[in-house]
Amino acid sequence: MSISYVNLRAFESEDMKELHRWFNDADSISMIGRVPRTYEETVQHVEKKRKNGDLVLAIDNEELHTVGWIFLQNIEHEHGRASIGILIAPESRGKGYAGAAMRKMIDIGFKQLRLNKIYLTTRGINEQAIGLYQKTGFVIEGQLRSHAYSDGRYYDTYIMGILASEWKG
Ligand SMILES: CC(C)(COP(=O)(O)OP(=O)(O)OC[C@H]1O[C@@H](n2cnc3c(N)ncnc32)[C@H](O)[C@@H]1OP(=O)(O)O)[C@@H](O)C(=O)NCCC(=O)NCCS
Repeated sequence: MSISYVNLRAFESEDMKELHRWFNDADSISMIGRVPRTYEETVQHVEKKRKNGDLVLAIDNEELHTVGWIFLQNIEHEHGRASIGILIAPESRGKGYAGAAMRKMIDIGFKQLRLNKIYLTTRGINEQAIGLYQKTGFVIEGQLRSHAYSDGRYYDTYIMGILASEWKG
């Protein structure tokens, strides 16, 4: 089990070049994207998130090196819910940064934004992400059959969630 320290801070425009690089890694494309993104499309993607009121944070490691981003989106205060997303730089995966960042972001969601529920969707092919979410405390709430197409095959998509009452911090 890897335990790592991370700090979450506001995602700045200066982080955009790195985000563009992370997006275009082959695993990222097959797990979250469809096709490579241009730098311009990356900027537009971030601007749209800001306009929607998403909470977008950069993940720094103990050496203050930026290793990924994490966000809460679809924030709906009337229902007390939001969905969460994360992307770690290809060379920084498997070191425990995602787990540490998820725990901090969930803490922000439940303790500062007063959410009642945080949820997400992930492709059944993404074993690493499903393992990460289950370890963080998310449970599978639903399964959408043959919902995502990748590399010649359809994969199920899982809906996963965690409630504030289940969160141990
Ligand atoms: C998914 C992703 C965020 C995980 O980041 P990471 O930094 O590698 O994850 P961590 O090192 O913090 O691992 C956390 C836990 O995930 C699980 N995990 C990691 N790799 C795994 C694998 N290959 N299979 C199953 N579970 C795995 C483990 O439970 C691990 O905890 P442990 O190290 O204590 O055993 C990262 O791989 C990534 O950015 N992928 C591309 C984008 C993406 O898929 N985002 C999610 C979209 S839903």
